[in-house]
Amino acid sequence: MTISEFQFDIKQGIPKELPQKKAIDPAINHAPKRKDILSKEEKELALRNALRYFPKQQHAELIPEFLDELTRFGRIYMYRFRPDYEMKARPINEYPGNSEQAKAIMLMIQNNLDYAVAQHPHELITYGGNGAVFQNWIQYRLCMKYLSEMTDEQTLVMYSGHPMGLFPSHKDAPRVVVTNGMVIPNYSKPDDWEKMNALGVSQYGQMTAGSYMYIGPQGIVHGTTITVLNAGRMIAKNGEDLSGKLFLTAGLGGMSGAQPKAASIAGCISVTAEVNEKAVHTRHSQGWVDEVISDLNDLCTRVKSAKANKEVVSIAYHGNVVSVWEKFLAEDIYVDLGSDQTSLHNPWAGGYYPMNMTLEAANDLMAADPEAFKIAIQDTLKRHAAAVNAHVAKGTYFFDYGNAFLLEASRAGADIMAQNGIDFKYPSYVQDIMGPMCFDYGFGPFRWVCASGKPEDLQKTDDIACAVLEEIMTTSPDEIKQQLADNIKWIKGAQANKLVVGSQARILYADAEGRMKIAAAFNKAIATGEIGPIILGRDHHDVSGTDSPYRETSNIYDGSRFTADMAIHNVIGDSFRGATWVSIHNGGGVGWGEVINGGFGMLLDGSDDAHRRLTMMLHWDVNNGIARRNWARNEGAVFAIKRAMEQEPRLKVTIPEMVDDVLLKNLFD
Ligand SMILES: NC(=O)c1ccc[n+]([C@@H]2O[C@H](COP(=O)([O-])OP(=O)(O)OC[C@H]3O[C@@H](n4cnc5c(N)ncnc54)[C@H](O)[C@@H]3O)[C@@H](O)[C@H]2O)c1
Repeated sequence: MTISEFQFDIKQGIPKELPQKKAIDPAINHAPKRKDILSKEEKELALRNALRYFPKQQHAELIPEFLDELTRFGRIYMYRFRPDYEMKARPINEYPGNSEQAKAIMLMIQNNLDYAVAQHPHELITYGGNGAVFQNWIQYRLCMKYLSEMTDEQTLVMYSGHPMGLFPSHKDAPRVVVTNGMVIPNYSKPDDWEKMNALGVSQYGQMTAGSYMYIGPQGIVHGTTITVLNAGRMIAKNGEDLSGKLFLTAGLGGMSGAQPKAASIAGCISVTAEVNEKAVHTRHSQGWVDEVISDLNDLCTRVKSAKANKEVVSIAYHGNVVSVWEKFLAEDIYVDLGSDQTSLHNPWAGGYYPMNMTLEAANDLMAADPEAFKIAIQDTLKRHAAAVNAHVAKGTYFFDYGNAFLLEASRAGADIMAQNGIDFKYPSYVQDIMGPMCFDYGFGPFRWVCASGKPEDLQKTDDIACAVLEEIMTTSPDEIKQQLADNIKWIKGAQANKLVVGSQARILYADAEGRMKIAAAFNKAIATGEIGPIILGRDHHDVSGTDSPYRETSNIYDGSRFTADMAIHNVIGDSFRGATWVSIHNGGGVGWGEVINGGFGMLLDGSDDAHRRLTMMLHWDVNNGIARRNWARNEGAVFAIKRAMEQEPRLKVTIPEMVDDVLLKNLFD
């Protein structure tokens, strides 16, 4: 298809004539059939809702088709309207439109749906089993059309994938405001999502899926590398590195697929179990995992030899992770580090698979008999936790990697609670590692995308970012030197690690100073013509953007970890300080109703306006969270916010007074 045909298709939005019906493509990874949760009346409502997008004369033809989709898949995806052009991030100048900012957003949307990037591209799911960009293909088409029409004096309003329309605004306002899954708090149980999503009125945006900020598994490779490296530092008895040590985990899906690569960068042996053969194949063929083994005895033999030779090797085990934990116990194979990244934020709809059942049988059971499926999952979770406990008793360091493993295991009745009955036996990686070492100091997953699509631009931005970090390192306090050093090492190795899947993107953990200085240097390089425009953003899994009591804010101990003021303030603050687009989501990472998370995107075009916006917005986007973490009495954050106040006199944050423990002791005995 030529560029002008592509542009015509974008601009036409909903085609006047019905396009040909599309058969389901078996070569593509599809979302599992969703629960049949609607009553007859509600199914009628779902159809009525879907038909709102189409002229009356097409309704009779579309009704049986949409009803068939609802019956077979539990959702109406409107497959017929999936465009024929290739779904990928194109260079920004290939998009039609009147606003460079809107074109940048189109690029990011297409990247989230790229077949090489998205988990279930035909169901518009980017990652995590249910992380949707849109609910159906008509919403995609309508959104792209609005973006191709809008000017810098309009804002597109997105309600859970539905483009409500263009509203007049001004050039400093966000071009798009996205909400996903925002519901009245009392209606935020998993079945509420199933129902509202089936009705076509809400969607699960995950974090960077519904906010158009996913950059493939690179983001999580970096976060996982940092986590595994620092977990390794925690278990090191004499400052030794991870060589010859074993990391056991599960999941080779959208995000979890990063684990073997990260483990290899961190320098250990990894075993990653995965039940889905397609997922195993994808990661193996991409070179993200070195070897595939499907027999447990072979796996044990291979792991023993890797340990003996201190190899750095990543092994995928095709099968259930619980069988590996149990087998390693029986074979007395010592696991140094253990975790899990199955999609337990979504346990009842395909995020976690039970033992002793094929993938197909499990997929059938979850739709045909959800209760029986739930029991099978809970039994597996109990076995899973029991095997982990037995390994931990022998010395394994196990951490929850933000997939709600501990939460769901506890709900299943597994032996996973600490003695006080309130906390879990094991820390989340944020409590032990990411919170105190990164978030409290403002370090988080800053990222950028080269809108030109040119690999040489990415190389230049890597060099610029590296130079900025090295400069900062010369005057940085000791508290953050390790973080800076890890990230300098990361950016130097980034090209060699071949992390780009989809758009020309890079991730880097940086604090407020680093993010602002890197962005300013990019903007300058754009102004001088050295590089093309850059799209800035970050993962929602960050210092300020996300309130999630068992993950991002699990190291908040003043009782406020179940509040979401920080995330809400963050998105509001970003929106009036110059973000190109902002988003706020219910659900993501750990489950619907369990987290509020938000993010932003920002186009840098080399202008003075872009410089003004980046300075104002990035400063807030990091320091909001540090201020809150400081108020929760987190030592690193108190240090970081005091330092930020010295650097910017207009910043004035309330600092907590610490009470002497002795004064509170025995008060209520
Ligand atoms: N810590 C973080 O920073 C972070 C970041 C992103 C995602 N997450 C969370 O991690 C989880 C995984 O994300 P994802 O995008 O990879 O999801 P995904 O659904 O794409 O992948 C999970 C994989 O686990 C496999 N699986 C399920 N049960 C299994 C079992 N019992 N044994 C072996 N394999 C099994 C599935 O087949 C699937 O391929 C999600 O809950 C997500 O929210 C955490």
